[in-house]
Amino acid sequence: MSKLFSPIQVGPYSLAHRVAMAPLTRMRAEAGDIPGALMAAYYAQRASAGGLIVAEATVVSRTGRGYLGAPGIYADAQIAGWKLVTDAVHAKGGRIFLQLWHVGRQSHSDLQPDGAAPVAPSVVPYEGVAFTANGWVPVTPARALSLAEIANILEDFRRGAERALAAGFDGVEIHGGNGYLPDQFLQDGTNRRSDAYGGPVENRARFLLEATAAAVSVWGADRVAVRIAPSGDWAGMSDGNPEATFGYVAEQLNAFGLAYLHVIEPRIRGAELIAEKDQAPVAAQQLRKIFKGRIIAAGGFTPESAEAIVAAGDADLVAFGRDFIANPDLPERIRHQLPFNPYDRASFYGGDARGYLDYPFHSAELAAA
Ligand code: FNR
Repeated sequence: MSKLFSPIQVGPYSLAHRVAMAPLTRMRAEAGDIPGALMAAYYAQRASAGGLIVAEATVVSRTGRGYLGAPGIYADAQIAGWKLVTDAVHAKGGRIFLQLWHVGRQSHSDLQPDGAAPVAPSVVPYEGVAFTANGWVPVTPARALSLAEIANILEDFRRGAERALAAGFDGVEIHGGNGYLPDQFLQDGTNRRSDAYGGPVENRARFLLEATAAAVSVWGADRVAVRIAPSGDWAGMSDGNPEATFGYVAEQLNAFGLAYLHVIEPRIRGAELIAEKDQAPVAAQQLRKIFKGRIIAAGGFTPESAEAIVAAGDADLVAFGRDFIANPDLPERIRHQLPFNPYDRASFYGGDARGYLDYPFHSAELAAA
């Protein structure tokens, strides 16, 4: 008897199974960072009755852009584009949360208002890349945010949450992982501030918690989620005491009563495995002891390890990333132990329908479902 395919309540939603689609940046938005028919078709393919999709990271501020072609929710004009997506998913009986995003230092001045420097908690040397009209290019050195600018970005999270509600989403997930802005505040390797947003973990966690509170003020807590990457070192991240830092976050998040906490296992660096796929779950297992709500685990799961972590009770759902790119009918393939299509890494980021809409369903019945 599969636990992965048993129903579960997430916030106000009764889900039919526990295989979620992880948020996946695909950089196929139209001009103005607006989703179009291409994106709606992609999400419709991956929607299933009673399944949960976390839509790709979506920027809440003009300063939050770091990947040309990634969608936004920073302007009212973006709402109608997202409505195409949410309507398409709902037509198939699926649920969809929007991931709210600000890249912070992972950007380039070409993507910034007035060609300004990207923003970050602190000025710390960083050698990552951003995607601009010139392709993948080294980031432009960031400048440190003032307290007034921090307040403005938190307000952008609130307004982004408001637009997501207007666009028909079922909830929002704050992107607190993978070295983006909230993570840059949280981990001490990127936060050298000495004001209320830096220093002890209580201060470093403030931005993430305030962004969460902003979303909760719009949606109520049970339709808001947070994604974190404990011990994640992708994008030049580091922390002196990850156990204490992420333990504190999980504990503080308990006070909200969120829809779920989404945990990226540390064996994943961005989108790359750094250890064997069958490595035991680490982060979710530890945070399970602290966080009182639902937990979605993600990162390098197979059907077997997904079943195992849910059966062991260390996570309630499992999100799949790369396999969901290549298998629009992934939950059905897992349920029936069908083989997976392999993914094509070259078409992950940007481009057209190729590598986006053309991955085959296992059978015609599933394609028509
Ligand atoms: C990602 N990942 C990711 N994570 C996130 O929180 N927001 C995002 O927008 C993206 N974008 C993204 C794009 C692509 C092309 C990949 C491959 C990955 C990370 C993703 O959600 C997931 O955590 C990792 O892919 C690990 O899970 P899998 O792929 O091993 O199941």
